[in-house]
Amino acid sequence: MSVKKICVHQIEDPVLKTLTDYKIVATSKSRDELRNIIGAEHVAALIIDLDAQDAFDIVVEALEIRHSLAVIGVTGTNDVNRIIRAQRAGCRQLTCKPLDENDLRSALNRALSESDDRPSLGKTIAVMGTQGGAGATTVACYLAMSIAEFSPSLAFLDLDLEFGTVAKAWDLNPRYTIADLREAGEIDRHVLEEMMLDLPSGISVLPRPEEIEAAHNVDEALVRSILHTANSIFPYVVIDLPRKLDAVTGAAIEACHKLLIVTQLNVTGILNAGRLNDGLLRFGVPQEKIEFVVNRFNKGTSMLDAKALETKVHKKTIGVIPNHYKSLSVASDMGQPVNEENPVRKTISEIANTLCGRQPTQAATGWMAKLGFGASKD
Ligand SMILES: Nc1ncnc2c1ncn2[C@@H]1O[C@H](COP(=O)(O)OP(=O)(O)OP(=O)(O)O)[C@@H](O)[C@H]1O
Ligand SMILES: [Mg+2]
Repeated sequence: MSVKKICVHQIEDPVLKTLTDYKIVATSKSRDELRNIIGAEHVAALIIDLDAQDAFDIVVEALEIRHSLAVIGVTGTNDVNRIIRAQRAGCRQLTCKPLDENDLRSALNRALSESDDRPSLGKTIAVMGTQGGAGATTVACYLAMSIAEFSPSLAFLDLDLEFGTVAKAWDLNPRYTIADLREAGEIDRHVLEEMMLDLPSGISVLPRPEEIEAAHNVDEALVRSILHTANSIFPYVVIDLPRKLDAVTGAAIEACHKLLIVTQLNVTGILNAGRLNDGLLRFGVPQEKIEFVVNRFNKGTSMLDAKALETKVHKKTIGVIPNHYKSLSVASDMGQPVNEENPVRKTISEIANTLCGRQPTQAATGWMAKLGFGASKD
């Protein structure tokens, strides 16, 4: 499972057969072929002939598709300008023609270990509810979808290990869950990418364990390691948290950049929001990490408004999501999202912009197709 996959472009050389620690999944001859392989397979490294036509553009494009790719360029030239161009295009290592077995292996090993040491590039947003059914999972799901409209990739982790519903919400049949990562040993980017379920939208999902008892095998060290690696691969990581403060959620809260607390405007919701906020502050969570959002707001009939919550938590809410029970429950039963005109979706999209520091934009057209979901429910 942890054998790293590599792809070779425009090179046929018997030396490649000596790379027995790796699996060569394809030898591509054209740009289109390479694009398809990198898009479909979790390829860890690309070995490319830099003297072939369009080689530098191909390297740039390959990295746009899979930015964790370790690229090793092979060249017969010692022209310094070409070497600089190769590095600027994104080649991590270079090796000369004719290929030498030891030199190629050491370039590959180096390029791949460099990829595991890359610094964090991700922004992590964790979502927690203040009472059962507050709508945390709903908010986390639509938040992930909204971010995926402007981010090329995103990791979505279901850390509600016992009762998580992310896979059900999107009608997914995952091959692996977070519990399988425990068996995988070291969580490097290749293992993590292999275990996540990739959706056409660019969202990669890591679901909760299949069996409830397996939840107890996931500990905070594993969660820390997953989040560290996810952060180095994905520009955004969204986490759906359970409503409890234990070592696992603690590790996630510590690692996240924003903790979005979802509450309803009823007495229990407001009291729990205050209680949770006070506890988090005592644990040392910085105030600026915590944000509050009101969900299922009934304008006109609610006895309380957002000010009641804001007084309790000494902070302004970053959004008030309306109650839209019928559309949400049909969508949730069908495992399909509501459409982009739905007020719940629209409000969560605005919250996503705020959390990610973006200006509000027009809804992207064709997002349903981009997300790869079927017909929407309104
Ligand atoms: N804004 C909304 N309007 C109407 N219904 C909503 C809204 N948000 C969520 N719901 C519905 O509320 C129910 C609970 O939502 P969800 O599962 O997201 O809550 P949760 O906080 O994650 O619950 P749990 O405590 O079980 O984790 C679901 O049926 C969902 O469709
Ligand atoms: Mg939930």
